[in-house]
Amino acid sequence: MAARTSRRLRVVIMCPPGVLLAAVVPSYEAVLVLRAAFEQFARVEAPELDSPTYAELAAGVAGDGELLALAAQRQDGQPAPNMLFGAVQYLLLRGVEHPLAAHYPILSGAEPPPEPAFPLFRAFCLEHREAVGELIVTRRTQTQVVRRCTCLLPVFGQVFREAETPLALIDVGASAGLNLNFDRYAYRYRRAGDEILRWERDVAGVELEADLRGPGTPPPPPPEIPVASRDGIDLNPIDLGDADELLWLRALIWPEHMERHAQLVDAAAELKDSPVRLHRGDASRDLPHLLERVPAEAALVVYSTIALYQIPREGRRRITAALEARSRERPVWQVALEGVHPPSLTLTRYRDGAGEAELLARASPHGWWIEWRNPQARRRRVRRRT
Ligand SMILES: C[S@@+](CC[C@H](N)C(=O)[O-])C[C@H]1O[C@@H](n2cnc3c(N)ncnc32)[C@H](O)[C@@H]1O
Repeated sequence: MAARTSRRLRVVIMCPPGVLLAAVVPSYEAVLVLRAAFEQFARVEAPELDSPTYAELAAGVAGDGELLALAAQRQDGQPAPNMLFGAVQYLLLRGVEHPLAAHYPILSGAEPPPEPAFPLFRAFCLEHREAVGELIVTRRTQTQVVRRCTCLLPVFGQVFREAETPLALIDVGASAGLNLNFDRYAYRYRRAGDEILRWERDVAGVELEADLRGPGTPPPPPPEIPVASRDGIDLNPIDLGDADELLWLRALIWPEHMERHAQLVDAAAELKDSPVRLHRGDASRDLPHLLERVPAEAALVVYSTIALYQIPREGRRRITAALEARSRERPVWQVALEGVHPPSLTLTRYRDGAGEAELLARASPHGWWIEWRNPQARRRRVRRRT
């Protein structure tokens, strides 16, 4: 049997007149894969991102055949734990009343009670099996982490100092485009609790913080970083003018991350006052058109935060080739917060068809902390002149 069909068996059941429901009976192999995914989530992902609630729930789901079957309905390539937890939180955020809500600080506004949450979670899933399943079948995971701007701000400041002209920003994998408004947010950088660097905004409803690890400190950004244009490209751009899209995006944030919920809602409100241009497209194919359209006199900055890993290697090569080609006409700066364990923050300067990358920092995937390298960090030639 082909790998694709062995993942699960789809059984179509006829239920009340005219209604078709697709129930999924996962194969034995699929159950093992799912169980491993939930175990991994419980052991590594949830503790790493500080979610004791999801760690407990994931451990419970890993041993529960009915809930594994529910999660198995996700679309190919979608992470089952995030989809199951997102679907449940979406329904709770939409107002479904259930005692489970007491375990979600974002809903209860309080510390979770000491009793285990899993029995209530299981009961919720089974009572709302159809609604949960419908969301898992039809939706996809997508994130927008505004706090990653703590990494972008000092680099954009550095580029502005070098270029001495307003920035033309292109966000690759922009999601809802919120990070294109980096200059509408206020920033604080702390080391061991002491404030080391601050960037204030008059209008800012969003305040972002990062801890500095190690001895390095990012160069203080200039008081103003003018922006000439803001474009984002995404396979699936999110329209935060649509309340349901905002709700789904919130549902994918973990229930203890109250600050992330607030930052998302506040940054979405900023977007109304400072709209950005979001383009639907595959960056590995469509970036060259965007590169041609940005203002000629501006400093062209192409950046990505935790997005390139979703683009196959050949596509990433095409992006690099597009930047190299464009740099024959004008300088291009590429800023990337990419990679894992932990991600790297790099600035690559492309001139005359070649790029030179500088590793600036290591940082947490959500911008919670930054370990800035000293200024003598070695530059690395990434591509020879072609
Ligand atoms: C993990 S999210 C990160 C979103 C955003 N950069 C942030 O930091 O909040 C990755 C984003 O990349 C987008 N993406 C994946 N492949 C893409 C492609 N080939 N072209 C454009 N966007 C893509 C996804 O749709 C998703 O919105």
